[in-house]
Amino acid sequence: MNVPDIIIAVDGYSATGKSTFAKLVAKEFAFLYLDSGAMYRGVTLYAMEKGFIGAEGSIDEDALLAAMPGLELHFEHSEEGTQLFTGPRNIEKEIRTMEVSGHVSPISAIPYVRAWVDERLHSFSEGGKVIMDGRDIGTTVFPNAELKIFMTAKPEVRAQRRYDELVAKGQVADLAEVARNLAERDYIDSHRETSPLRRAEDAYVMDNSDMTLHEETVWLRGLLQGKFGILE
Ligand code: DC
Repeated sequence: MNVPDIIIAVDGYSATGKSTFAKLVAKEFAFLYLDSGAMYRGVTLYAMEKGFIGAEGSIDEDALLAAMPGLELHFEHSEEGTQLFTGPRNIEKEIRTMEVSGHVSPISAIPYVRAWVDERLHSFSEGGKVIMDGRDIGTTVFPNAELKIFMTAKPEVRAQRRYDELVAKGQVADLAEVARNLAERDYIDSHRETSPLRRAEDAYVMDNSDMTLHEETVWLRGLLQGKFGILE
């Protein structure tokens, strides 16, 4: 399928399979895949390692702001997929722990953190075909994206998927705790003041509670054909 150089924005609730879907589309249609949530997770790991997050979850925002110039994050794309690095250090695994998941939503609600991440997302995606997933890609980062998708799924389906993912990675996980974390993140992400999670008016909604990955790509093919008049 001959897809033009477009930006596909994929937004939605936590653990709706945005990154799995985006990675698959990237592979099938030769798009550059960028995971905006990974950037927020990278900032969170940095804040944790610098000691800016207190035991009870409080964030020293002034100290983090002062230390932001010392942080560098970038993606490297290889056979293993897209991975997040800080300098030479691959932090892809560390940013996916439950501890990082527990702190990432409040960190991503800080306006200067969002501005810092947005600036980098723009510079990473200059030209070509790009698919980016997150919470505010179609509303704030790329409001003019040619195709916007909003993903959703039943909470219990999402919790089970994320739990299975953690277990497959060898991490200790508890289904109820995973479900709690997802509900909490959904709440904070949709109620924050700066760029809250919401569906862009022109986004196509995909509820994948009962869809296979194959069905998701068939759905996308149909959209691309209908919207851009692309023939097989
Ligand atoms: O997609 P994810 O679960 O890895 O994202 C982690 C967190 O980052 C999510 O809970 C909210 C935040 N995030 C955001 O605020 N805006 C984005 N565009 C992407 C993620």
